Amino acid sequence: MATRRKKPEELRSHRWYGAEDLRAFGHRSRTFQMGYGREEFAGKPVIAILNTWSDINPCHTHFRQRVEEIKRGIWQAGGFPLEMPAISLSEPFQKPTTMLYRNLLAMEAEELLRSYPIDGCVLLGGCDKTLPALVMGATSMDLPTIVVPAGPMLRGNWQGKVLGSGSDSWKYWAELRAGTIDERDWQEIEEGIARSPGTCMTMGTASTMAAAVEALGLALPGASSIPAADSNHGRMAAACGRRIVELVWEDLRPAKLLTPSAFDNALITVLALSGSTNSIVHLVAMAGRAGVDLPLARFDALARRVPVLADVRPAGRFLMEDFYYAGGLRALLSELSDLLDLECQTVAGETLGQGIAGARIHNPKVIRPRAQALAGGGGLAVLGGNLAPNGAVIKPLSAEPGLLQHRGPAVVFADYNDMAARIDDPELPVDADSVLVLQSAGPQGGPGMPEWGMLPIPQKLLRQGVRDMVRISDARMSGTSYGTCVLHVAPESFVGGPLALVRDGDEIELDVAARKLWLHVEEAELAHRRAAWQPPPAHYGRGYGALFARHITQADKGCDFDFLHAGAAVPEPEIH
Ligand code: FES
Repeated sequence: MATRRKKPEELRSHRWYGAEDLRAFGHRSRTFQMGYGREEFAGKPVIAILNTWSDINPCHTHFRQRVEEIKRGIWQAGGFPLEMPAISLSEPFQKPTTMLYRNLLAMEAEELLRSYPIDGCVLLGGCDKTLPALVMGATSMDLPTIVVPAGPMLRGNWQGKVLGSGSDSWKYWAELRAGTIDERDWQEIEEGIARSPGTCMTMGTASTMAAAVEALGLALPGASSIPAADSNHGRMAAACGRRIVELVWEDLRPAKLLTPSAFDNALITVLALSGSTNSIVHLVAMAGRAGVDLPLARFDALARRVPVLADVRPAGRFLMEDFYYAGGLRALLSELSDLLDLECQTVAGETLGQGIAGARIHNPKVIRPRAQALAGGGGLAVLGGNLAPNGAVIKPLSAEPGLLQHRGPAVVFADYNDMAARIDDPELPVDADSVLVLQSAGPQGGPGMPEWGMLPIPQKLLRQGVRDMVRISDARMSGTSYGTCVLHVAPESFVGGPLALVRDGDEIELDVAARKLWLHVEEAELAHRRAAWQPPPAHYGRGYGALFARHITQADKGCDFDFLHAGAAVPEPEIH
């Protein structure tokens, strides 16, 4: 059936530009003031490019050029591009954590689109929280939307050895602390690990979320795998510029794309990539904006049967540049086609199945055929039990296999500062069987649920050769991290979850196969501790932090603000 195309007078921007009244006179005259002629904007779709470029975001340094390429495509297709800066959440720099500000960017994106004469938008993001935030905002506003993912940076290099973002920072930091490399080596690694624009090139949160967004149907087929420095990336950006104009005429909105099946496709993709655990929080939040219920149980059910095919660090050996040369996401998805709903529509104006048709794996070492899967399942696991009544997550493939079933005494840190002060204390009563517990690192406690979940191994154990231990927290963990780290414990300790009740020496049992996380303390004793528990003082008395604390939901609900979930429509602004 032919798609009905909008008429120019049906464009949302027509309310600003097309009316014959004093306000429209102002809108037109002020557009002339910017140097545009009537023929450049009158009757054309107005396309916002939400650009998360910033001088302090190294992953987005190429966005100034990409914006020009997107604009080129928009002009070519007969649209009117308007670049709109939005807060840049720069993972390496922003404190206490970019996660504190994900919802702020989501709100900014939504309100930019609502308050201006916008017909459709291009979302330009990549560094970890930027893509989920932009998609959350655009989903709530529900204008035609296309995503230009930032793309991964090139492989790192040190003395001819390949370096991967994050993963090799942790690895060589442990070696430096263990005394097996020196300061000079460390400086060379510092200078070689990030050598081009683009996002972390391991399967961190940025690469995972970009792939998830493509699988959801919000990016052009193959777009998420292109390295930022590759000229194909610029061509993809221009193609997105052309396509968004058509999307406006076709009125193809996120609400039509973001179905329960599309979210299943995204989950399957994340699992086959052995993607970042952060993606769970983001996908739950994104689904919440689309009115789709995505319980943690859905992740666990799919994780049991989705094979891990991407041999990409930290779970595997290669990097995103290799993944692209091996065929990229289209090749991976074509290998999973019996598990996916191929009828889901995408922004390309075709089905997911049509978008991956003909894709082939060029390097089966990097993208494994099904018969040689890295693992038959287990990209993620969702745990339950008396220590995490509302769930916790672990990435089994990044853990030491021998620790996936473990019972040991807790060594408890009340918060991050307590941990930093004592972790390397030679007197700390800890051995390789201990279970390290970090409290006050959740959505409220961190605040912002920082990526502290890969607690450092105590130095005295590093020197004994210990490289992994069971670690439990209500924090998140960088997608580039690894280890037997139980994360996202809900409810968090700061609001009185059972994690707050753990004391030094308590026996904790982790059994990933049984999906069990258990605190072996008598219920009567737990009740006694619960009655004595006092909530910690609030972090913020005013400002955005206070708003955050009042409205943030727990990890199993996606850490969105409670008032931003899908619900009653927000009225269009009056334009008088
Ligand atoms: Fe930007 Fe990792 S620091 S994506």
